[in-house]
Amino acid sequence: MSVYDEVTLWSFMFLLAGAVGQTVIYPFTSTCAVKRSTLTLLCSFTPLKSFNEGGREVPLKIVRVRWCQNHELCQGTTPSVYDSKSTKNDPRYQYLGDMKTNCTLQIRDVQERDNRTFRFRMEADNAAGHYTNRTGVNVRVVAGTKMRIISSSEDKKFRGNETVTLLCTSVCTFHQLEVTWFKDGHALSETGLSLHLGPLTAKDSGNYTCALKANQNTLSEPYSLQVEAGADVNLPLIVGVVFGVLLAVITLILILFIIKRKLAAAEDQSAAGGEMEQKHPDQTYSIIMKPAKPEEEEEAHQQGTSQAVEDISYAAVQFKPKKQKSRHMEDADEAVVYSSLASRG
Ligand SMILES: *[C@@H]1O[C@H](CO)[C@@H](O)[C@H](O)[C@H]1NC(C)=O
Ligand SMILES: *[C@@H]1O[C@H](CO)[C@@H](O)[C@H](O)[C@H]1NC(C)=O
Ligand SMILES: *[C@@H]1O[C@H](CO)[C@@H](O)[C@H](O)[C@H]1NC(C)=O
Ligand SMILES: *[C@@H]1O[C@H](CO)[C@@H](O)[C@H](O)[C@H]1NC(C)=O
Repeated sequence: MSVYDEVTLWSFMFLLAGAVGQTVIYPFTSTCAVKRSTLTLLCSFTPLKSFNEGGREVPLKIVRVRWCQNHELCQGTTPSVYDSKSTKNDPRYQYLGDMKTNCTLQIRDVQERDNRTFRFRMEADNAAGHYTNRTGVNVRVVAGTKMRIISSSEDKKFRGNETVTLLCTSVCTFHQLEVTWFKDGHALSETGLSLHLGPLTAKDSGNYTCALKANQNTLSEPYSLQVEAGADVNLPLIVGVVFGVLLAVITLILILFIIKRKLAAAEDQSAAGGEMEQKHPDQTYSIIMKPAKPEEEEEAHQQGTSQAVEDISYAAVQFKPKKQKSRHMEDADEAVVYSSLASRG
C-alpha cells in the first residue's frame, strides 16, 4: 500500500466519521426463514454523541428506535413493525436490543408478509441524530420446507463408544432456531440444531427425525442410525464373569482330578486285595486235599494247627479288604460332597 493510498484511505475514513458519524451494522444483510419459525435479525449501532450547533457541541441522546419493512428511511408516519414509542407493537416482533448499541430484532412465527427488507432507524432528541442505514436486511421466507438431517459421519453403522453429531438443517441458514428431535417418533429433550450422541450404545439405534419446534410440517426424512449389537457391553463385568467361570472350571477340574486319583488308588488296592483273596481258597484247598495218612497224623495235626494259624492270619488278612471297602465308600462320600460343592460353585 503506497503512502498516497494510505492517505486516501485515512481521509476517506475521517470523511465518513465526519459526515456520517453514526453507524448501523447488520452482520447479515440477507437471510432466509422457514414460515412459522423464529428469526433473529442481528443489528448493532453507534449513535452520534453530539452535534455542532453555532460552534457549540450539543450532546445527543437516542429517544426512539424502530424497525420498518420495505421503506428506505422508515421515518415519520411510516408504519413500523416495532416502535419504542408505540404501545401497540405486534408481539411477533420482539426488540432484543437497547437504546445505546444493540438493535437486534426477533421475529417469531415468521409469515409470508415478512418476505421483505427490514431497516432499523434511530431517532435522537435532535434530528441531527436521526439515522437509517438503507442497506437493511433482506428476509426471504420459504414455506413448507422440510428439514434435513446431516450426520457428522458418513457411516450409518456405528460401534459402541463412538460419537456422532446430527445437524438439522434446511435450505435456509438459521440463527437461534429451535427444533424438536425425535427418535422413533418420540420427542427428545434436545432443542438445538445439532444433536450430539455418544458414547453410543445399542439403545441409540433408531430412526431420527427433526422438525422446527414451531412447525411440525417441516419434519425431516428419517435418519436411520445403527449401533452394532453387543458393542456396548460392560467390559469390567465381562472380565468378572469370565474370571468367575474360569475359576469354577479350574476348581471342577481339580476336584475331578483328585477324585480320579483317589478312585485309581482305591482300585489298585482292591485289585491287590482280590489277588490275596484268590490265594486263600487255593491254599486252603491244597491243605484240604493233603492226604491225612495215619503215620502223618501228628504231621497232619501239626498242619491242621498251622492251617488254623493260617486261617487266623487269613481272617486277619481278610479284614483288610473290608477296610479298603470302607475306604472306598469314604471316597464315594467325598465324591458326593465334592460334586455338591461343584454344583454350588
Ligand atoms: C450499513 O449496513 C451495512 C451492512 O451491515 C454496512 O456494511 C455499512 O457499513 C452500514 N453503513 C453505515 C454507515 O453504518
Ligand atoms: C444484541 O443482543 C442480541 C440479543 O440479546 C445478542 O444475541 C447479540 O449478541 C447482541 N449484539 C451485540 C453486538 O452485543
Ligand atoms: C419473497 O421476496 C422475493 C424478492 O425479495 C420474491 O422474489 C419472492 O417471490 C418472494 N417470496 C414469497 C413467498 O413471497
Ligand atoms: C426405521 O425405518 C426403517 C425404514 O425406513 C424400518 O425398516 C425400521 O424398522 C425402522 N426402525 C425402527 C426402530 O423403527
